[in-house]
Amino acid sequence: MKKTKILTIANRKGGAGKSTCVAHLSLEAVKQGLKTILIDLDPQKTLEVWWKKREEENPFLTDIDPLKIEEVIASINGHGFDLCIIDTPGDTSINAINGIKVADLVLIPSKPTSPDLTSIGRTISMVKSLEKSYVFVITQAVARTKLALQGVAVLSEFGVVAPFTISNRVSYANAMNIGSSAAIEDKLAAEEIKGVWEFINSKLFDLRERNAKEKVRFDI
Ligand SMILES: Nc1ncnc2c1ncn2[C@@H]1O[C@H](COP(=O)(O)OP(=O)(O)OP(=O)(O)O)[C@@H](O)[C@H]1O
Ligand SMILES: [Mg+2]
Repeated sequence: MKKTKILTIANRKGGAGKSTCVAHLSLEAVKQGLKTILIDLDPQKTLEVWWKKREEENPFLTDIDPLKIEEVIASINGHGFDLCIIDTPGDTSINAINGIKVADLVLIPSKPTSPDLTSIGRTISMVKSLEKSYVFVITQAVARTKLALQGVAVLSEFGVVAPFTISNRVSYANAMNIGSSAAIEDKLAAEEIKGVWEFINSKLFDLRERNAKEKVRFDI
C-alpha cells in the first residue's frame, strides 16, 4: 500500500505566507501528477476558502477533527494519495502541534524582515520538540534585495533554506482571492514555485520509490 507523504506548513508568526505556500505548492504538485489532499487546521480557514473557489477536484480537501489527526492520516494512506499538505494556524494551539506531529517534513515559510526572523526560534523549538525534520523558505521577499539575502543567511544558521525564494507579487494575493495560482499568469512566480516544489519534492520523496511501478496484487 502506498504511504501518503505528509508536508506540514508551520510558523507561529501570523501572516508569514503559510496558506499561500500550501495553495501554490499543492497546485504545483498536482501539475507534476501527484494525487494531493489538503487539510486546513487553521480556524480562519484561508486555505479552505481558496479551495472552495476551485472547480477541479485535485487537490482534494478533507475536514477533520484535529484531535483525531493520526486516525485520519492512517485512513488517507489507504486512498491512493501521494501527498497530503497540512496548513496550520500561526500559534501554539493543539491544531498547530497536531499538524506538526504527523509530518514527514515541516516547511517553515518566513518573511526576510527582522520581526519575522527574530521570532523564528519559537517555531524551530516547537518543531524540534516534536522531533521533526524541517526546511525554510523565504516568502514575500522583494526580489534581489539585500534583505532577502540577509534572510537566507540568518535562516541558514538554523537549517536548510530552499534555493528559490517566493517574492512579494500581487499575483500571489490575486490568486488566493480567486482560487487560482500565481503561476498561471505570472512567469516569474511560476519559476519560483516550481523551484521551491522541486526542492521539497527531493526532500520528501525517495524519487526512485516514486517512479517505481507497483505490481498488481490479487487476493487469491
Ligand atoms: N508572496 C506573496 N506576495 C504577495 N502577497 C503575499 C504573498 N504571500 C502572502 N501574501 C499575502 O500576505 C497575507 C498573509 O499571507 P498568508 O495568509 O498566506 O499567511 P499565513 O501565514 O497563512 O497567515 P496566518 O498566520 O494568518 O494564517 C495575505 O494577504 C496574502 O495574500
Ligand atoms: Mg494561514
